[in-house]
Amino acid sequence: MKKLTGIKKIKVAVFISGAGSNLRNIIKFSKNKKSPISVNLIISNKKTAKGLKYANQNKIEKKIFNFKNISFSEKKILKILLKKKIELICLAGFMRILSKFFIQNFNGKIINIHPSLLPKYKGLNTHQRVLKNKEKFSGCTVHYVSSKLDSGKIIFQKKIKIRKNDTISSLQRRILMEEHKIYPIAINKILD
Ligand code: GAR
Repeated sequence: MKKLTGIKKIKVAVFISGAGSNLRNIIKFSKNKKSPISVNLIISNKKTAKGLKYANQNKIEKKIFNFKNISFSEKKILKILLKKKIELICLAGFMRILSKFFIQNFNGKIINIHPSLLPKYKGLNTHQRVLKNKEKFSGCTVHYVSSKLDSGKIIFQKKIKIRKNDTISSLQRRILMEEHKIYPIAINKILD
């Protein structure tokens, strides 16, 4: 996906479900003069998502959809994305699986961050499973979203060494710090 150098920033929607530390980080990155993106929309499937406060703090439009009727929610979201001329979707801790229909409508323009070294440890509870299996390394991955869960083409990955005394929360904390570094790198990489 090429950006028109010096003319405009790519309009991004960030989808969240929780704390939104990646969202906060992407917004920070978007505010750099040299950043290729602007964050124009925040979508959450939970009205209680703590990350929604970053929409208010940064005066970014936010929308909440409960996804109880997935097809209804997705059709509404697609309409808003079109209306706001959104060109890239960044999933950042968004814990709903998007339908094939939705993904095909935004083909090649949805990326996600996952807290493991994909293709290992797709799905939930990654840190718990990594520790249980006594892995030596873990990490995080930014990848394109395809209709198969956590299986799209990898854009950027960061590996970290697991420490003897790591717990689920220490690993989560250390990997989250790496996530904040690699999401902007991955965005720059695909828009270069
Ligand atoms: C992040 O660790 C992200 O990789 C993970 O949720 C966390 C969200 O944190 N995403 C997934 O597990 C997706 N399968 P944040 O809300 O602070 O950005």
